[in-house]
Amino acid sequence: MDRSVFQALESAAANLAPTDPTSVPLRVHLAGLYLSAGEAEQALKHATAALAASPHDTTALSLAAAAAAATGNEQLAEGYRAVHSALLTGSATTPEGELKIEPPPASPVLEPVTETIGWDSSDPNLVTLADVAGMLDVKQRLQRSLLGPMQNPQLREAFGKQLRGGLMLWGPPGTGKTFIARALSGELGARFFSATPADIYGSYFGQSEQNIARLFGQARQETPGVVFLDELDAIGGRRSRRNTDQARAVVNQLLVELDGMASNDGVYVLAATNAPWDVDEALRRPGRFDRTVLVLPPDAPARDALLRLQFQGRPVAPDIDVASLVRGTEMFSGADLVRLVEAATERALERSMQVGMVSPVTNADLQSALRDTPPSTRAWLSTAATFLAHAGTGEDFDELRTYLRTHKIG
Ligand SMILES: Nc1ncnc2c1ncn2[C@@H]1O[C@H](COP(=O)(O)OP(=O)(O)O)[C@@H](O)[C@H]1O
Ligand SMILES: [Mg+2]
Repeated sequence: MDRSVFQALESAAANLAPTDPTSVPLRVHLAGLYLSAGEAEQALKHATAALAASPHDTTALSLAAAAAAATGNEQLAEGYRAVHSALLTGSATTPEGELKIEPPPASPVLEPVTETIGWDSSDPNLVTLADVAGMLDVKQRLQRSLLGPMQNPQLREAFGKQLRGGLMLWGPPGTGKTFIARALSGELGARFFSATPADIYGSYFGQSEQNIARLFGQARQETPGVVFLDELDAIGGRRSRRNTDQARAVVNQLLVELDGMASNDGVYVLAATNAPWDVDEALRRPGRFDRTVLVLPPDAPARDALLRLQFQGRPVAPDIDVASLVRGTEMFSGADLVRLVEAATERALERSMQVGMVSPVTNADLQSALRDTPPSTRAWLSTAATFLAHAGTGEDFDELRTYLRTHKIG
């Protein structure tokens, strides 16, 4: 970041009285900038100044906690976290029962800005993991790292530390990343808080980072819980490529919330993206989204399961050759397969209307749909190959490299 930006903001802050509440957003902003620039002392100074003017500002509190931790003052960090979580849970005292916290003042900052925010967890079209076809290894990893501990307090206790940090699902579009997250939500019920870029980026300046803070705040009130950030590249895109303060502030707030997780046992963070290379690199550091699960186009057994799932409840000819369809749909994503069966069904429907009786989906319908529906993952896979040519090695990259090699891409 350009030093002159810091200087300009510093002098603007210096011109305001220390107790002037209108200085708070500026000081909070500065603290966030310093924190993401790795200047923890400066971040702490401004977060503390913001708190002097507005002691219940939750953003200033999380920044102060993260900055104190970054300076190595864990005791101070713990203090700020305690106040922060007491405010978020609305409890009147800290766990020690010493510090009296009044309810936060009704400042515009804390008022909900929109009534319908996207992480309402009630979903009439409930799906569970049983609806996700194939993907055994992905399911197993999620079972191990998320569902198991969520459903077993003893495991959580024993492995608490190792379970911290976020998990990022990534891979080509249409491979079921969002679908899997919805299924996890179905498994976990109300303790799933999910947000898309549209939920986060509101129309008012300054609202977006508050949406992030509220999302995590709500999850902390209902532990164990999962926060799911869909399309993480659009929520937390590289700050260097984005020129709005808003987008940068969102990444900074995400960093604050992720780093504050240490004090929030039982909140798991899950994200999905088609473009991991566009995610801000700070979000990928240890303790943040450092664990990744590559979600590739379904393999043969998964395609078989997905196709059979699609045939359920549709009129299909008894001699449908699923095996040959599985062979012909290499590199098709889950969404591509859904589209394929829908296109074939449409043909059968048209015919049925012509003849005036139900004419089931035939092999010919499917083969003709197959000719019209190329796999959509190709473009992504060649982009990925280009990216890998410039990237280093790594566990998940190696998995993708193997896939590209076996499919002769790149
Ligand atoms: N493994 C799967 N099992 C069942 N349906 C799937 C699967 N993968 C993809 N789909 C279907 O494809 C659609 C698109 O998947 P989605 O989760 O939006 O992909 P992504 O988020 O990876 O881009 C889903 O709504 C679902 O109908
Ligand atoms: Mg998606």
